[in-house]
Amino acid sequence: MKIKVVNGPNLNLLGIRKPEVYGTITYQELTNQIQSFCAERGITVEIVQSNHEGSIVDAIHDAYFKGFNGLIINPGAYTHYSYAIRDALEAIEGVLKVEVHLSNIYARESFRAINVIRDVVDWSIVGKGIEGYFEAITWIASKKCRQRDTSSL
Ligand code: DQA
Repeated sequence: MKIKVVNGPNLNLLGIRKPEVYGTITYQELTNQIQSFCAERGITVEIVQSNHEGSIVDAIHDAYFKGFNGLIINPGAYTHYSYAIRDALEAIEGVLKVEVHLSNIYARESFRAINVIRDVVDWSIVGKGIEGYFEAITWIASKKCRQRDTSSL
């Protein structure tokens, strides 16, 4: 079981940025906790963060071409308007896709309630802080995906 975690713009500022909204743990602590959570369950995880839309699109494609079973994505503010990220998520079939948002995007400023990716992911977790990532991993693992065959890609 291989899971890719893709974090978008400003998530590298976790612990610094609006701690009352996003929490006090740092991005490094988040990645450490995800690594340990996966290691304890025998899951291979790759975590990437980018502040650039195109790099996030590339990371989504990579999840497909490298045979990942699951993709967890927090696209940050791109959630609200990036049709390029939406198209990339829609394009990759066979990879389970979960969006995670630390905050409840539906209970904040009105622009955050616009979500252009919700209907192209398999599951959506909002407002649970970093627990959302662990819930997403558990959900993907519960689907007991078989190894993806990428030989024809
Ligand atoms: C976020 C919510 C977005 O609206 C915001 O732009 C982020 C983080 C979240 O995790 O709650 O960068 O995706």
